[in-house]
Amino acid sequence: MNTTTTSESTRSVRIGDAFNRVDGLEKVTGRARYAAEYAASGLLYGWVVSSDIAKGRIVAFDETRARAVPGVVEILTHANRPHLPLRDSNYTDEVSVPGSPFRALYDDKIAFSAQPIALVVAESLEAARDAAALLRVEYDVEPHNTDFDAAMREKFEPSKKRSTFAPPKPRGDAKAAFAAAPVKHVGAYRLSSHFHNPMEMHAATVVWEGGGKITVYDKTQGSQNVQAYLSSIFGFPKGDIRVVNAFVGGAFGSGLRPQYHVYLATMAAKMLSRSVRVVLTRQQMFSHVHRPEAIQSVSLATDEAGHLQAILNDATTTTSRFENYMEVVCNWGLMNYACENATGAYTLAPVDTYTPGDMRAPGAATGMTLFEMAIDEMAHAVGQDPLEFRRLNYSEVDAMNDKPYTSKALREAYDEGAERFGWSARSLAPRSMKEGRELVGWGVATGMWDAMFMKTSARARLTAAGDLEIATAGSDIGTGTYTVVSQVASETLGVPLGRITARLGDSDLPASPVEGGSWGAASSGAATQLACRRIALKLHDAALEIEGAPLGKVKFDEVEFRDGRITVKADPSRSVSLAEAMAATGKAVLEEEQTAKSGVGDMVSSMTRARNTHSAIFVEVKVDEDLGVVRVTRVVCAVAAGRIINPKTARSQILGGVVMGIGMALHEEGMTDHRLGRVMNHSLAEYHIPVNADIDSIEVIFVNEPDPNVTPLGVKGLGEIGIVGTAGAVANAIWHATGKRQRSLPVTIDKLL
Ligand code: MOS
Repeated sequence: MNTTTTSESTRSVRIGDAFNRVDGLEKVTGRARYAAEYAASGLLYGWVVSSDIAKGRIVAFDETRARAVPGVVEILTHANRPHLPLRDSNYTDEVSVPGSPFRALYDDKIAFSAQPIALVVAESLEAARDAAALLRVEYDVEPHNTDFDAAMREKFEPSKKRSTFAPPKPRGDAKAAFAAAPVKHVGAYRLSSHFHNPMEMHAATVVWEGGGKITVYDKTQGSQNVQAYLSSIFGFPKGDIRVVNAFVGGAFGSGLRPQYHVYLATMAAKMLSRSVRVVLTRQQMFSHVHRPEAIQSVSLATDEAGHLQAILNDATTTTSRFENYMEVVCNWGLMNYACENATGAYTLAPVDTYTPGDMRAPGAATGMTLFEMAIDEMAHAVGQDPLEFRRLNYSEVDAMNDKPYTSKALREAYDEGAERFGWSARSLAPRSMKEGRELVGWGVATGMWDAMFMKTSARARLTAAGDLEIATAGSDIGTGTYTVVSQVASETLGVPLGRITARLGDSDLPASPVEGGSWGAASSGAATQLACRRIALKLHDAALEIEGAPLGKVKFDEVEFRDGRITVKADPSRSVSLAEAMAATGKAVLEEEQTAKSGVGDMVSSMTRARNTHSAIFVEVKVDEDLGVVRVTRVVCAVAAGRIINPKTARSQILGGVVMGIGMALHEEGMTDHRLGRVMNHSLAEYHIPVNADIDSIEVIFVNEPDPNVTPLGVKGLGEIGIVGTAGAVANAIWHATGKRQRSLPVTIDKLL
């Protein structure tokens, strides 16, 4: 698993080969540039001023002292902002949600704490920051509520549909079956709000190109999404805005929707006809998108043998008062288990915060994780091993929609994961395993996510010199897209990796949706393959015309493109180099752009088949009861995600997801002071995420799951499945260690003491 490819190598790589990510060197040497690292002449620096209050209006600004700071160029507020459109539809984006999108500096109203209320623009960052501290604001304060329990009194069923939101679909009569069943479990589970905390702050450098054109270097998951958004709000024709996000220092969903930093930077650039950079502080990163807080009430019932008879799965998550952010929370448990009677209800509770949004496996990370804690309790109530209980209630089909899956190798994931973990040595009773002064617990949970596919275009360009460029507007948000498209291209055309350049993250390139939902590898990979295959067809045609017919009269599917050559499969002594084939085309460059969309290849319709990834997570914890400290000493995560493009980068995705899942279980918690309505632990010192010392052994298994029907490459996507269920497995292990159920995540020290 350590193939290193040098630029001299003539070897091409195949889908399935494990090797380092192709952008690794650029990243570790600092050559990869991020949004706030682009230079511009005469660059101005914008500092965001955040509201001190959570709700009310701005009565007045006193700008006297702030404007007196040397270097201050302008202070943008709602009072002097440029014209902005009136209608909500101008502010929506590719992935916006029902409601009124937030508009910074639009008027005097304040809807959440730390809302941006001014942008101080200065010749230096220091001057802008200094002046921002001197800006005086007079507020008219109105009562706010940020407390979830209080918000539950106002909860409502979401009425408008969002494209990715599907309400849970009931079957049978869950209430009656629950009442009649002999063994029952009822529990309410909670998850705190989470903040994405990517390493790279949200930032934009807007370069004023003259002639009304701008180049926007933005930390976003969708260059073309931001381009359309800025065009619609600020009136630049799309052709006058180029958005670049060539490298993204993590996002986890926080960069799916355009954020206020890029809006403010663009507003200032337009107003001043200058280049402007805005970088949020780590504290300000706690003022916008987050995973909503959740409460999930689960009632389960079985017969005496442990067969599920009823599932009732109700969840409520928070939203803002101006938009309805909805997640698919309740459906996962209803889909995953065989049970004739199941129902779920999903409601929203409005609070005075910014609108929550997608964070790694939105909905599933909450809903499947908490459901799997309830499943564990049900297994215990009926006296069964929790893994056996899951096997007993296994569903071959999507039980909620009564649809077969394109593939579901969850059983294999259970088996291989359990084998590797040594699950059979687990004692059934809680508090029965000990090592030294620590209690030992073993827990299991199931993970589930979508295998989505999005219409994506890619361009391939092969030169006579043998250099191949792949280009698509989609970005690499740290997940490995550069590597994936390079690898697919190398396999399809036989061009060595060292001769391939992938260009991503630029709105000028072929159309791509936001990078998210774990659809990137499947979608941009398929588009890349289509474009490369078109070039391969042309090379094959040309090669047949080469004098002396070195390949004979072979059909396209009788040759393979490998290691810089086109070779007859049945007779490897017959081959031509790609350079010879290129020469035979008589062209200096072959260029093809192709669009991959649903239905390409052997893909089947999602109307007839469910498409999902699955996982089985096994966790060992050691608990020091005197100190309340939990250590996650071992994790085995067995993943069924179709075809794996690069086992090494794929493993990294799962490792990251599992680490984030451990954070959900033990550390991550947005803490709000409800009197102020403000998140108080707004720094990495106080909002805890796992550090190296929190992470021990994590083993990743990819089970064999051939699936030609799910997407054109048989790829399901891996960016999110690693987080789903992991925190549930940790919580279940804590119960097995201590005998005490923890139904509220994170399980912090205070809860165990
Ligand atoms: Mo993801 S939460 O779609 O970046």
